[in-house]
Amino acid sequence: MKIIQIDPAQYANIVFFTGAGMSAECGVPTYRGSGGIWDKYNWEEVACQNAFDSNPQKVLDFHELRQSLLFNCYPHAGHRVLAALEQKHSGITIVTQNIDGMHQRAGSVNVIELHGSLWRLRCQLDGRIVSDTNAKFKKRKCECGAWLRPDIIWFGDPLDSGIMNRAHTIIEKADLFISIGTSGMVWPAAGFPKIAADKGAKIIEINPDAIDRSKYQHTVYPDKAGTLIPKLFPNFNTN
Ligand code: APR
Repeated sequence: MKIIQIDPAQYANIVFFTGAGMSAECGVPTYRGSGGIWDKYNWEEVACQNAFDSNPQKVLDFHELRQSLLFNCYPHAGHRVLAALEQKHSGITIVTQNIDGMHQRAGSVNVIELHGSLWRLRCQLDGRIVSDTNAKFKKRKCECGAWLRPDIIWFGDPLDSGIMNRAHTIIEKADLFISIGTSGMVWPAAGFPKIAADKGAKIIEINPDAIDRSKYQHTVYPDKAGTLIPKLFPNFNTN
């Protein structure tokens, strides 16, 4: 596979669009495919408002477990390259579906989290946000007495329109759009590569299971994020 190195100075706006595969090499399980979270758990029991309404403790246990497992996971070389790029170039944005905060742990700041964050809880009733970066949730109820729920987008939840608008605006301006580790199954995020392509961005996809979506004239690298990203940007490899 021929890898064409990227000079970020050639682009005004680079968007990295990341999914669970970006964190797979850190030890964070993906959602789909063998060993995926939805192989092991039924989302209808742990990741939707109905489940929370009928059994909040069970849903919180599931998310607390996910959060505690992150303490043994660390950003990889690919995350660090993205953070280094942002330090040296303007116009670098990460639009992520991930809720694990791994980009920020690597040092990235300009991160749009489409699906929220595992590191925050939100009061069901008054909307108060409680940041919780512990392995065990500090508290499961708000001061008002209502349950705190993870501040993430579950199945069936509306997306945050402000966040979606920010993502759209930056994606429409992208001249390089690099999709990393997403199955493209969950909408509307799955439509982002097409939005960028329609506006004329160059599209690159990194995914070991990538299928050739040549309709977008992609460059497809069927490889892992942690291996491939440092090869694309060798001058930013901090290893
Ligand atoms: N590097 C790059 N890609 C990888 C790697 C890796 N090391 N390992 C796996 N992948 C790819 C898989 O081939 C798969 O196509 O990552 C993709 C992960 O897909 P999903 O598990 O479906 O994750 P994602 O696309 O982020 O899911 C979207 O679904 O359940 C919801 O809200 C959840 O944000 C999530 C959304």
